[in-house]
Formats: sequence, C-alpha cells, structure tokens
Amino acid sequence: SASDPDLVARAEAAKEKLGDKVFVLGHHYQRDEVIQFADVTGDSFKLARDAAARPAAEYIVFCGVHFMAESADILTGPQQQVILPDMAAGCSMADMARIAQVEKAWDALAAAGVQDLVVPVTYMNSSAAIKAFCGRNGGVVCTSSNAEVALDWAFQQKGVDTKVLFLPDQHLGRNTAVLKLGYSLDDCVVWNPHKPDGGLTPEELAKARVILWKGHCSVHGRFTVDVIDDLRAKVPDLNVLVHPECQHEVVLNADFVGSTEYIINTIEAAPPGSSWAIGTELNLVQRLANAHPDKNIMFLDRNVCYCSTMNRIDLPHFVWAMESLVDGVVVNRIEVDPKTEAEALVALQRMLDLPG
Ligand code: 13P
Ligand code: SF4
Repeated sequence: SASDPDLVARAEAAKEKLGDKVFVLGHHYQRDEVIQFADVTGDSFKLARDAAARPAAEYIVFCGVHFMAESADILTGPQQQVILPDMAAGCSMADMARIAQVEKAWDALAAAGVQDLVVPVTYMNSSAAIKAFCGRNGGVVCTSSNAEVALDWAFQQKGVDTKVLFLPDQHLGRNTAVLKLGYSLDDCVVWNPHKPDGGLTPEELAKARVILWKGHCSVHGRFTVDVIDDLRAKVPDLNVLVHPECQHEVVLNADFVGSTEYIINTIEAAPPGSSWAIGTELNLVQRLANAHPDKNIMFLDRNVCYCSTMNRIDLPHFVWAMESLVDGVVVNRIEVDPKTEAEALVALQRMLDLPG
C-alpha cells in the first residue's frame, strides 16, 4: 500500500525531533510503510538482542507484536520505556498458551509422576508469564533461529531420560526435535489444554520425550504440500523455502527451512535467475520479491495472507506514538511487573547465553 505522503512527512519530522531519545525496532513482518522508519530490522532473536544492546535510548518504539515488546521491556533497563504503537497487535499463537493452563499441565505432569524429568522450553512467541514459568522451573526461551541449540541444551538438563515440554508452537517443537535432533514422531505427544490431563494417559506421558503444546501459527499453518506439488510441477528447479512454524509435512517437502533472518540471507545469497517459493508472512515475501527483481520469487499460497496482528501497526499508529513522544506523552507503554520480569529474564538470559 502506498504511504500517505503527509503521514510520512510527520513520521520523519517526529523522528528527527526525538533524535537519539528514540530507537525504533521493526520485525520483518511489518508493513513497508512502517519498516522504512526502523533503526533496526530483524527476526525475534535479533530484535531481542538489539533491544538489550541499546541502553542510551529513553524510548523504544517496537514495531512488532505484544510478546516482542514485553521481551524488549524485560531485557532493557528501568529507565527505558517500551512502546507498542497498537495495543491490539497480539499473536494468536501466544494466546494459545495461558499461564493458568500451563500451571495446570505442570501439576498434571507431577501427578503422572514425570514432572521431575521435564524441562520446559518456550518459544519467544509467548507471554511474559509463560517465560517466567520457564525461568522458575529450570527452562529456557528459544526463537526459530536457535530452537535446535535450546532444545539440545534442555535435553541435557535431567540426564538421559529428560523430557521437554515445548510451548506453545507444536510445529516448531516437532520440526526441531525430529528434523534437527533425531527424535522420532513416536517420541512426540501433543498436550491439548482443552482436555483433562491434556488428553494423554500416564503411559503415553511416561514414554514421550517431547510434549508439544497444542498451539500453532494461523499464518504459517495455512501452507500445504498440495501447493508445493503444484508449484513444483509448474516451475522448473523451484526452491521451496519455509519457516519452521509450518506443518511438519510442509517442512519435510521443502528444500530449506529457517527463521525470517535465515530466509532473507538465503534469498540474498541465491543466484540470479533462480526460482523460490517462500512460506512465510506476505509482507516479507513481497519485500524480498521487490528487492530481488533478478530472482523469481513467489508466495507459497494461492491466497493473500498477512499476519493480521503484525499489520495492526500501520503508519497512522506509528505517527501517533511518535508525535505523542514529541509532546512528552508516553502512550501504549508495555511494562512487565517486576516479579514476572525477574523470572522471565532468567529464561531469556539462558537463551542469550546459549552457544552459537
Ligand atoms: P522469527 O522472527 O523468529 O523468524 O519468527 C517469526 C514469527 O512468527 C514472529 O512472530
Ligand atoms: Fe503470531 Fe504467527 Fe503472527 Fe508470528 S506470524 S505474530 S506467530 S500469528
């Protein structure tokens, strides 16, 4: 969508006036009209690290979704204020694991006699309360770019019989455990928070190595093997590149899999004339196609599918947040309470300290 020139001028003016006082972070799934004002763009992992590394800025305007802004608040000092331009920018996957449900599951694992062997690992795409749960129970946070290292770390924490409870994305958990760490599909069970005891018997829990929370991304869940087959039949030498939030069968049928940062690096390194079908959010795929006219880049879906909550951050909201700051008013501050923050930081710090 073309940016309104008046709003662009206002955003530029506000950014100029605020100078070093403001630092704008933009996730790769943000709209072009917003991403043009980001001081740094990145995947979830890079943005968390960059937020932590910017002690000078008084305000961090986070163009992304709620769980990312929470993580930025946890990782920054108390004198820094994190702002999310639209409070409705949540994440449907993160909402699939609520802390009360996870505490209940944890108690059920104790009742089944397996809790002592379980290490909780949460995907970054989760609330601060879930990260705090992992922090106080010996667990760790991971992102799509370090899930393999994080799971590997987790499996070493309780000896050879360690089990991992992976929250909240069953697909990232399964794809990483099976395709990167060599566990089998039979080692994985799915915990359904809407069923008593997760819908699992004590025998199933005793046997399982990976307990996958029944959550998924509504955007990445749409990609299918059907479309992959279709495109491969039409486009010679097609490379299929997908995000690990995609369903297991889709990842199995792809040629390359990785985080948004990996997807960008792969396309940048691709030879001119090569063909790519990309299975991730559409703003990023369109941006890559525009930036690489010498490569044949297509979307791995027949329909248009943006992440509707990422798209909530639009230029009007961005301008509103920035102009408010110019007026000395902090709107939409994301502030995690101190107890949650301290516990969540333990799990986030364990992630930042992982090798690699
Ligand atoms: P990454 O930025 O870690 O690749 O995650 C993608 C995503 O879905 C963020 O919401
Ligand atoms: Fe959440 Fe999926 Fe949107 Fe990422 S793309 S913010 S995981 S709904």
